[in-house]
Amino acid sequence: MAKKKKQSSNQLEIQNAAKTLFANIRFMSVDDPIKSIVITSSVPNEGKSTVSVNLAQAIATSGKQVLLVEADMRRRSLYAMLNVHSSAGLYAVLTDAAPLNVAVTGTTTPNLYFLDTEPNIPNPADLISSKRFGRLVRTLEERYDYVIFDMPPVGTFVDAAILSTLVDATVMVVRPNQTKRAELVEAYEQLQKANANVIGVCATFVEGSGSEYYYAYYTNSGERVKAEGSASAPSVATPPSPGHGGRSGSFAASPRSQAPYGGASQRGARR
Ligand SMILES: Nc1ncnc2c1ncn2[C@@H]1O[C@H](COP(=O)(O)OP(=O)(O)OP(=O)(O)O)[C@@H](O)[C@H]1O
Ligand SMILES: [Mg+2]
Repeated sequence: MAKKKKQSSNQLEIQNAAKTLFANIRFMSVDDPIKSIVITSSVPNEGKSTVSVNLAQAIATSGKQVLLVEADMRRRSLYAMLNVHSSAGLYAVLTDAAPLNVAVTGTTTPNLYFLDTEPNIPNPADLISSKRFGRLVRTLEERYDYVIFDMPPVGTFVDAAILSTLVDATVMVVRPNQTKRAELVEAYEQLQKANANVIGVCATFVEGSGSEYYYAYYTNSGERVKAEGSASAPSVATPPSPGHGGRSGSFAASPRSQAPYGGASQRGARR
């Protein structure tokens, strides 16, 4: 029972953190709105798909139309997380085997749409590099307010580095105390070389200090009480640099002007 309670409070913490992530993405792109976002990481299992789903849900809940794309053609997981079983996916759309409006399915969250991918696609990197894929990204950007691409890790496959050049922004998911600094820096540099616009680092599996803390801290009568437990919420900090660690905190996404390596200035060169 206690475990169940903890899990749901963790989920709430992650949902609230995702809302803050979305708010920060909007704040950092007021004049030139970010519509398409790649979510990736340096190594597997850092929480990319979890961040993708929660960010997409946060956007949908705000009333914007959002498409979540399963772009991890190596290890798809979103269909299970969303409990959606599509009749067609990315590959079918790209090969004209199915129209986009058939492949895209609704979800239990209003305004949140999902485009799955097929299992065992033989050459994902070639597919993502194709002109057709680029055109599809443009079409999706026109049809939806936001398009989120869940990707495989940069350190393992080149897919995310390729797709990051076709979208407005890339968020790197990092699991502090788990991801090796060298792996993170290498992945970040690979994205930079590809001319990606890395707007921030989203830290996962970190101690939460958000909603649960505040709910516990102030009771209905205004009494101050000690917070109980913690949650593994994601948070966003500055992109990594070899000599300066990322700042942690609740989705303190870095303004692009402050990003090391001049990530912000790369934007616009992609098209
Ligand atoms: N912030 C978090 N706090 C606690 N657990 C988390 C968090 N984010 C993800 N998890 C858990 O960690 C596991 C891996 O998460 P997820 O599938 O999102 O990672 P991933 O980076 O997409 O993995 P892959 O590299 O295989 O695609 C899942 O069991 C998920 O529930
Ligand atoms: Mg994943």
